[in-house]
Amino acid sequence: MSVIDFHSHVLPGIDDGSKDVAMSREMLAKIKASGVDTVVATPHFYGNRRSLSEFLERRQGAIERLFAEVPPTEMPELRFGAEVAFYSGLTKENDLHKLCIDGTHTLLLEMPFSVWTDFEIGEVTKLCLDHGFKVAIAHIERYESFAPDEMMHQLLRLPVYIQINSGTLLPWRGRKKWLNMFKEGQAQLLGSDCHNLTSRPPNLAEGREMLRRKLGDGALRKIDRTTAELLEKDL
Ligand SMILES: [Fe+2]
Repeated sequence: MSVIDFHSHVLPGIDDGSKDVAMSREMLAKIKASGVDTVVATPHFYGNRRSLSEFLERRQGAIERLFAEVPPTEMPELRFGAEVAFYSGLTKENDLHKLCIDGTHTLLLEMPFSVWTDFEIGEVTKLCLDHGFKVAIAHIERYESFAPDEMMHQLLRLPVYIQINSGTLLPWRGRKKWLNMFKEGQAQLLGSDCHNLTSRPPNLAEGREMLRRKLGDGALRKIDRTTAELLEKDL
């Protein structure tokens, strides 16, 4: 079964991730060397700052710059999506499906970094139930101070997928809660959310090793299976 990094900012010069092709090349080489087969490139999309078509054009430009300079043999397989930041017009966006991971209905959604209300939960509900997206919530651990317990429970009751960053599992302090989410089946996806080579480096392999040590091989197999399903082309 393939090892997949579900969340990354490896495309050059498109967001606060890799700043240029040279950095992308180094990040991707490191990812490949660590045993990762596939990386989903998920540059930030902010719908209140930029139009969707402009984002897609910029993403295409970044992909072309990367492939013009880096031979595919040096890189893991790449898939293309976006990390869509929640905004109030999200469910009215006609072309939202174009932000799904290529060929799928899987949408990586970043929830707001402000206190969640019924409105946000209602919008996520619409995305799953009315629009038919498979919604993956990015790095659930980062919303602790913005998600009142009741809102978090409501979110977890929806048919969403929950992603945790591999780096969150590395420091001893505080990781138990997030390991438990995998253990209880509340979290299903792991991503490095790598942005560069230093402060937010590719570290999926380290996070997987921690999961293996704490929860066993079965936990990794479950993650790999679910991730592969979400990347299956269904269009
Ligand atoms: Fe991210």
